[in-house]
Amino acid sequence: MDAGRLTQRLAESGQSHLLRFWPELSAKEQAELARDLEGMELAEINSFFSRAMETSGRGQRQSVDARMEPVPAEAMGSTARDHKSLATWEEEGLRHISQSSVAVLLLAGGQGTRLGVSYPKGMYNVGLPSHKSLFQLQAERILKMEHLAGQKHGTMCCIPWYIMTSGRTMDATKEFFSQHKFFGLSEENVVFFQQGMLPAMDYSGKIILEAKGKISMSPDGNGGLYRALGTQKILEDMEKRGIKFIHVYCVDNILVKVADPAFIGFCVLKEGDCGAKVVERTHPAEPVGVVCKVDGHYQVVEYSEITQATAERRGTDGRLVFSAGNIANHFFTLAFLKDIVNIHEPQLQHHIAQKKIPFVDEQGQLIGPDKPNGIKMEKFVFDIFQFAKTFLVFEVVREDEFSPLKNADSQGGKDNPFTTRHALMSLHQRWVLNAGGKFVVKSGIQLLDATRSLNGATNQPIECEISPLVSYGGEGLDAMVQGQEFCPPLVIDEKGVHGPPKNRV
Ligand code: UTP
Repeated sequence: MDAGRLTQRLAESGQSHLLRFWPELSAKEQAELARDLEGMELAEINSFFSRAMETSGRGQRQSVDARMEPVPAEAMGSTARDHKSLATWEEEGLRHISQSSVAVLLLAGGQGTRLGVSYPKGMYNVGLPSHKSLFQLQAERILKMEHLAGQKHGTMCCIPWYIMTSGRTMDATKEFFSQHKFFGLSEENVVFFQQGMLPAMDYSGKIILEAKGKISMSPDGNGGLYRALGTQKILEDMEKRGIKFIHVYCVDNILVKVADPAFIGFCVLKEGDCGAKVVERTHPAEPVGVVCKVDGHYQVVEYSEITQATAERRGTDGRLVFSAGNIANHFFTLAFLKDIVNIHEPQLQHHIAQKKIPFVDEQGQLIGPDKPNGIKMEKFVFDIFQFAKTFLVFEVVREDEFSPLKNADSQGGKDNPFTTRHALMSLHQRWVLNAGGKFVVKSGIQLLDATRSLNGATNQPIECEISPLVSYGGEGLDAMVQGQEFCPPLVIDEKGVHGPPKNRV
């Protein structure tokens, strides 16, 4: 380590304060701080800061309403309204999966601050009868989809799983996968890679120290994906494996249909290069981003940026005009991702999130601020919609496909372990009902069906869990449940239909 060179670099970039406590640090702390600083492109970070602050100060918010247009009908598909096409889309998707040309990519670099656990969110067990983690549910859906596509087309196919982690989640994530023997997947088809990290900064562009010898760092947002795809040589890996289509999704949606053949088939048949799965926004004040066009280009507009009048606009069919709720679930062609990484990524600007960032003050005291004192810079995964040549939107039924884990149970409200567990068990209960099974309190006395208890906060869901290894989307259950009555809890897994003997009537 050359302390003189470091001092000069920091002075040149206006960040000399980072060495304020240098003489007080142990040799180990000095070496760690120097290593962290040497790995940082300070000039680039300063330029990210100025560009992001400049954009955020332009007051674009007031004018967005007038420039917004809804997604045109020809760019949309819907699982609820396009029944006739659904089977064709699914067939097409399965065909590509069977040829091993589809990969899935998990965004798992977030910090899960709201959930408040110290480990990666994918390791979370929401309390299902099986105690499976989010990672395990996703892994088993991949295994099942490989099996379904391979069986249909007589191939041995694989769906490589790319997992983006951050400096904060990588080690624990890898360790969890090894402990669980990759949940039955072949290790070489699970590729971990790391997104970038950026320092938190105060409003004048000074990098924040979270301890005397430690910089406050966080991942650079889920849109950090595009830079990481290049720097970590992930696109090259995809190319080598013959991947053509990529399904990108978030770690926290317990219902996610990983490698959903209908979504993939829809996008391929419509020749889309970029697609977004959405759920219908049914309430104007629902806090979910809106997929729409602004100045003729696709983007996601945050619900907070839209005026009430625009949010409440309804069409002749009674649906909200801006109804496409973004769930961060996307389709990309490899060719599109290559263009993003090689051409467009450097032009993407960081968004600013104002945060309360713990810091050491000039006297070396650790301060936990009670109001925002600085910013974190993030890119978003949907920032690249604007570059699509053919952008498509695929609307799915919320109760079937979207229930994210964001908050802890203690915070009450929604998107917590209780609501995600409830959503999964309600879905599985409906699968059993659709396949001709019944739930009873005791022989002949039927329990209310799941849909009626979906939104009742005090209702405990009927305990029913079906392993993804048995059914990916409700298929294949008839032989196991048709004409049968079950007294919950009911668990169906690869070993059979379970429950204490009295539970099967
Ligand atoms: P969220 O924005 O909900 O963030 O991420 P989070 O980290 O899960 O939770 P909070 O906000 O700290 O409470 C949506 C998805 O994007 C991923 C997350 O892992 C999640 O799948 N993500 C987020 C990244 O991969 N990298 C990031 O830098 C941020």
